[in-house]
Amino acid sequence: MRLDKFLTETTDLSRSDAKKVVHRGDVTVDGGVVKNTASAIKDGMRVEWNGEHLELMGLRYLMLYKPANVECTTKPGLYERAHDLIDLPNVDRLSIVGRLDVDTTGLVLMTDDGQWNHRVTSPKKACAKRYRVTLARPLEGDELTSAVADFEHGLMLDGEEKPTRPARLEMETATVGLLWITEGRYHQVKRMFAAIGNHVEALHREAIGDLELDPDLEPGECRFLRPEEVASF
Ligand code: URA
Repeated sequence: MRLDKFLTETTDLSRSDAKKVVHRGDVTVDGGVVKNTASAIKDGMRVEWNGEHLELMGLRYLMLYKPANVECTTKPGLYERAHDLIDLPNVDRLSIVGRLDVDTTGLVLMTDDGQWNHRVTSPKKACAKRYRVTLARPLEGDELTSAVADFEHGLMLDGEEKPTRPARLEMETATVGLLWITEGRYHQVKRMFAAIGNHVEALHREAIGDLELDPDLEPGECRFLRPEEVASF
């Protein structure tokens, strides 16, 4: 790989800035200054920029505890972006694996591995997402029985042509419950409860597949996934 490409892969430098730092003599390869941006970097060579050792990253897989008022988008907007919470080079190359609404909290996965992203999000894979839902109105008695059945059989959501896939609902109290869904339609959970005449006041994603939000993470914190977690999808 060319030296300038190596620098853009391992830092936030643009290609033109990478050329500048090389020409300035800020970059060494195996201890010697290299000013040729086209120099070939091979496995095992040590590249340093202002003394900092740079290493090529493999594919990256992260979990983020998304707080409220953070947006799952790449474009700058009204809110802070999920990407802004992650202190890694080339963070914008990470894709969000199943977005959450700005007011939803909890587990967000991010990766630059497109195939893995597809495995997690493809409706065909039917990967279950578990949400903790806080409702505006108590859901109990016959109304709960019929909601559980409706969710299990599938609901028609406004403006859609296909019913939702079977979903499981277990209420822990009259207003707080757990919902498992295997799709990721737009505002799906909120629209499912709206369809049965209720309203979601708070929504938190606890798990995707077998992967639980790490209880050691505080809102706004992230960590890399362990190899077995990556392999679980
Ligand atoms: N369903 C919603 O309504 N919102 C989310 O953020 C995720 C699922």
